[in-house]
Amino acid sequence: MAVTATLADRLVARYLAATPKSRAYHERAVQALTGGTTRTTVFFDPYPPCVERGQGATVWDLDGTPRIDFLNNYTSLILGHAHPVVVEAVRWAAERGSAFAAPTENELRLAELIKARVPAVERLRFTNSGTEATMFALRCARAVTGRPLVAKFEGGYHGTHDYAASPAGVGIPDEVKALVLDLPFNDADGTERLLAQHRDRVAAVIIEPVQGAGGVIPADRAFLQRLRDLTRAWGMVLIFDEIISFRIAPGGAQEYYGIQPDLTTFGKIIGGGFPVAAVGGREEVMAAMDQRRGSGYIAHGGTFNGNPVGTAAGIATLELLTPDVYQRLNALGERVRMGLGDLFERRGVPASVTGIGSLFNIHATRAPIHDSRAVQRGDAAYLRALMLGLLLEGFWLAPRGMGCISTPMDEGTVDALVDATERVLDELTA
Ligand SMILES: Cc1ncc(COP(=O)(O)O)c(C=O)c1O
Repeated sequence: MAVTATLADRLVARYLAATPKSRAYHERAVQALTGGTTRTTVFFDPYPPCVERGQGATVWDLDGTPRIDFLNNYTSLILGHAHPVVVEAVRWAAERGSAFAAPTENELRLAELIKARVPAVERLRFTNSGTEATMFALRCARAVTGRPLVAKFEGGYHGTHDYAASPAGVGIPDEVKALVLDLPFNDADGTERLLAQHRDRVAAVIIEPVQGAGGVIPADRAFLQRLRDLTRAWGMVLIFDEIISFRIAPGGAQEYYGIQPDLTTFGKIIGGGFPVAAVGGREEVMAAMDQRRGSGYIAHGGTFNGNPVGTAAGIATLELLTPDVYQRLNALGERVRMGLGDLFERRGVPASVTGIGSLFNIHATRAPIHDSRAVQRGDAAYLRALMLGLLLEGFWLAPRGMGCISTPMDEGTVDALVDATERVLDELTA
């Protein structure tokens, strides 16, 4: 069932023929933007389509080709593109001034909306990116525990700062890498063993309750509960990175699992399509950032933190996301997982689907997936061919197979993806 070089070349040739304007854009872009993009994850070989605009569930590239967007800016656009209520909220806010060196009502309203959904959040602070949110979460943990180490999980993604990008990252000093422990995801015994070796030196354990970049892999409930119990017993701050998983329930994955962390990081959907993220949690931990202490607090700058335009988009988005909406999104998520899973089974191809709520990920393997190692053992060439084939069919997913549902989608949209996948499989098996 391997993808031959000829077949891969044929798909690339079709892609090149379908995207001449994106190709011209890319040739121009590499002269100004390193690698032709300004974000590692949007690139794939030979070049990504350059987007002209998006509306609802559809994006159009420079050649005028529409595609159904199952990527939604890596899960952040839960209402799809340019939702009229969000656009109006942003226009209203921008007309009143886009940023001030002062508090505004909007940041507080968004904070209160998040607090109302997430009981574990007693206090929070806004940042402009998830990277900053996880960076400040780890720093708060170090400040309150006085311990140097942070622990995270293999396959986890927490952004691009030095601690998040360790141990594999390039350009990070060994001294920093030595402060980061890598734990085995979904392996409670292995995690306990490693943590026990450093139990008096670990400030924080950060985990995505549903690994996103690692392959949309939900944590096992018992594993997550053990982690909660261990970290509590050993005085470590448990951080749930819900930057992706906050979309699975009104109160995020912590509501779904019924487990409360000490700190939570948020991003993506809370900004309604704008760069808004947050770190929040127990008052005594968040107090590390309280400047009213006069000294010994974590300085938390950020020129655009909590700006009224981004937070207006976030407020409009969260207000539209009622419990019924989550139910509908999650039912569509289940439909796409079932549809694709059945298809792969029926066709006997080396592919499977993981996911939860409105999130899913296609993998080029039939092996059970409990951690990102299983994902990495998949057939990369097969996945690439499948994703390129889907792009040519008019469906946009992450090159690594990740997708998600947005509110403008319905059963027809989801079924169309499954049908398109079948056509791609026909091509790959021909
Ligand atoms: C779980 C998780 N944490 C952190 C981040 C980093 O967020 P940002 O890209 O806003 O810096 C991401 C981004 O995809 C993420 O998925």
